[in-house]
Amino acid sequence: MIELTVDGTALQAPAGQSLAAVLLTAGRVALRNSPSGTPRGLFCGIGVCQECRVVVDGAVARACVTPVAAGMTVTTGRT
Ligand code: FES
Repeated sequence: MIELTVDGTALQAPAGQSLAAVLLTAGRVALRNSPSGTPRGLFCGIGVCQECRVVVDGAVARACVTPVAAGMTVTTGRT
């Protein structure tokens, strides 16, 4: 198990699990808002649609194809 931080909250997850799976397990279904304010989240799950964009350690990443790692800092709702 590793520990990461999501929006200031510490979470534990199996190393290497996808960030999307970790966020869904933690009840984080909406990951960002569209320009009109509509909540958006996981859609394709294979890295194509970019609906799962979050900020990981300061860079935009697709949660569905990003494995979690120890010390990772994730910010949702800002992409
Ligand atoms: S859910 Fe489509 S790119 Fe992640």
